[in-house]
Amino acid sequence: MKTMYKSSSEEDTQQIGMELASNAKAGDIFALYGSLGAGKTALVKGMAKELNVAEGVTSPTFTIINEYNGDKPLYHMDLYRIESGEELFQTGFEEYLHEEGIVVIEWPQVALSLLKNIPHWEIKIEILSEYNRTITVTAKDGVK
Ligand SMILES: Nc1ncnc2c1ncn2[C@@H]1O[C@H](COP(=O)(O)OP(=O)(O)OP(=O)(O)O)[C@@H](O)[C@H]1O
Ligand SMILES: [Mg+2]
Repeated sequence: MKTMYKSSSEEDTQQIGMELASNAKAGDIFALYGSLGAGKTALVKGMAKELNVAEGVTSPTFTIINEYNGDKPLYHMDLYRIESGEELFQTGFEEYLHEEGIVVIEWPQVALSLLKNIPHWEIKIEILSEYNRTITVTAKDGVK
């Protein structure tokens, strides 16, 4: 399954995040691809809004993993600064993949070998111009 969205503002992207979260089940994993400033964190802000997270969502670039209490737990990861499988292991990343919450991962490339074994949603945000983005959502069933 593949769905394509168009966004022309940060608000649009948040709205798409809200829609994705409203359809998400506990245990769902979203891998967010897209270059710096594409809108990955903006999408997660929308997800948090839909899940009624009271706190403001901030980028976990340095903390690696932020956990938010919403209608379902939201685990927001940013693996940008992770450089090796060993470092990734130390974050406890794999255990989060089995949590009964919603897991969203920015910069998931370093975790690809783990992700390819499990069902997840691949989200690609492409920058078209200053404000325009295409956002594609693809179901990855994890079958090798
Ligand atoms: N259509 C759009 N969707 C989302 N953000 C947009 C859009 N148009 C412009 N922006 C701007 O782009 C920036 C996106 O920032 P955001 O932190 O969400 O990116 P990111 O993909 O998480 O980047 P990083 O890789 O640094 O974590 C914001 O400043 C936002 O206002
Ligand atoms: Mg970000």
